[in-house]
Amino acid sequence: MKFFIDTANLKEIQEANDLGILDGVTTNPSLMAKEGITGKQNILDHYVAICNIVDGPVSAEVISTDYAGMVLEGEHLASLHKNIVVKIPMIPEGIKAIKYFSEKGIETNCTLVFSAGQALLAAKAGATYISPFLGRLDDISTNGLDLIAQIRLIYDNYAFNTQILAASIRHPMHIINCAEIGSDVMTGPLSAIKALAKHPLTDLGLQQFLADHAKGNS
Ligand code: G3P
Repeated sequence: MKFFIDTANLKEIQEANDLGILDGVTTNPSLMAKEGITGKQNILDHYVAICNIVDGPVSAEVISTDYAGMVLEGEHLASLHKNIVVKIPMIPEGIKAIKYFSEKGIETNCTLVFSAGQALLAAKAGATYISPFLGRLDDISTNGLDLIAQIRLIYDNYAFNTQILAASIRHPMHIINCAEIGSDVMTGPLSAIKALAKHPLTDLGLQQFLADHAKGNS
């Protein structure tokens, strides 16, 4: 399973990249705003800064909601760097834009996916990735992982190439469960990624090893 980090924070992106396990980055307008990145040029520059840290797909989201606007914006985003993936919302105009980019060989990430039907449409349009939002489904008492499993089954039935990019990951168990189901990618916060490494027995064991070594070498 590929690991993407879901943030626009350059420090966190650098830290995750330094771990050596980072495959890509996803951003969205809310994450950009959270970092105080506003204004068209600043946003574009920030995407390039991210691409300069991570050698992997970097999702950059369009703001337009009409087909012509998405195409114009997406083409400009894609021209910024070879690793940019154009992130497009799951709306009818978005499906048309995904089809357009797919035929042009430009990678897309279909975002705001909350149902299997949406995932099926995006795959038929040729999306490179689809982003089902697990955490937000969990927030409304619907099992987000069930949706990932349902999409996995559908994509496998027809050998769709579209990759499932599990998004809105909130904690390390989401990541583990996604890996069990066979999600192609997960995008999560740095905290959830780092939490995978933690185990109290590891800490205790290491403490003991170091203490025993110190005794034998004092
Ligand atoms: O990648 C989608 C993600 O950013 C949404 O996460 O935590 O805002 O639901 P969240």
